[in-house]
Amino acid sequence: MSKPVIFSGIQPTGNLHLGNFLGAVKQWVELQNSGTYQCYFCIVDYHSLTGKMTADERRAQVMVTATELLAAGIDPKKSTLFIQSHVPEHTELSWIFSSVTPMAELERMTQFKEKSENQKQNINAGLFTYPILQTADILLYQATHVPVGEDQVQHVELTRDIARWFNNRYAYNFPETAAVLTETPRVKSLLEPDKKMSKSLGQGHVIELGEESSSIEKKIQRAVTATAGGGIAPGAQNLLLLYKHFGDPARYERFIREEKEGTIRYGELKTELSSALSNYFADFRARKQKLLANPDRVAKIFAAGAKQAREVAQTTMKQVRQKIGIR
Ligand code: TRP
Repeated sequence: MSKPVIFSGIQPTGNLHLGNFLGAVKQWVELQNSGTYQCYFCIVDYHSLTGKMTADERRAQVMVTATELLAAGIDPKKSTLFIQSHVPEHTELSWIFSSVTPMAELERMTQFKEKSENQKQNINAGLFTYPILQTADILLYQATHVPVGEDQVQHVELTRDIARWFNNRYAYNFPETAAVLTETPRVKSLLEPDKKMSKSLGQGHVIELGEESSSIEKKIQRAVTATAGGGIAPGAQNLLLLYKHFGDPARYERFIREEKEGTIRYGELKTELSSALSNYFADFRARKQKLLANPDRVAKIFAAGAKQAREVAQTTMKQVRQKIGIR
């Protein structure tokens, strides 16, 4: 029996931070290591064209993301790990899907509305058709499971719709795809804990996986914990959330108890959280340094990943072209 297929993608945003890690990469590694699935993980450089990165930035950030995914534990022996543009079938299938997708369905996408709001100077057509390319990513590999954060659920629902529209029109059998909503804690900015942790807010707001201990300490020390009224402040809650994921479980229980009793000392929490984070990512830092010293090795791994992915993608495309009467 073949294993159910998982596909997920990540934008090449450069150094991964704690939000990316808990929101995606950690689950990817767990799903990979469960041995239950056949996994495809992809750096979606074509999707990133809808943003404002320069060519040099893109090249550099794809390389950093590639290196960090390997350092974080994505294992090319267990998963197919590749870069979207290395498999040109993604854009080919995307065009085909665009002709079975009603405009009105794309207009409903909340991410399109949000991004349009955030980049008023650059509301390009790619931003609009973004979920079609995402659908092509997923269906080229006949993936049935897509681990994503909540913000992507609507896109995965659209993937299911597009598969159905295509299947009905051309008598094909793309599978039904479901989002795998693993528990993805919402990691907040250290300095503005009402906002999601994101590099666009500034370096002081995020902790990157590869950060040195001294830098982690400095940032955690500066993290906001003040209460603006009764109850537990969002900043303190965020630090406790991080401690829960990276710290000692018994110690975590005690912090929670102390928080309830009003005896918690945030200085103590910050010191212990800093060292927990530094320890947790020590292996990551070491592996990253090794890979950075050997960029050819990283390039080779990704070339092999693309070759593997492409074989599957080409099989799908052959069938699709035949169904639609092209070539
Ligand atoms: N849109 C996703 C994000 O912004 C990235 C992505 C592209 C993706 N293609 C995908 C995720 C396919 C899952 C499956 O996070």
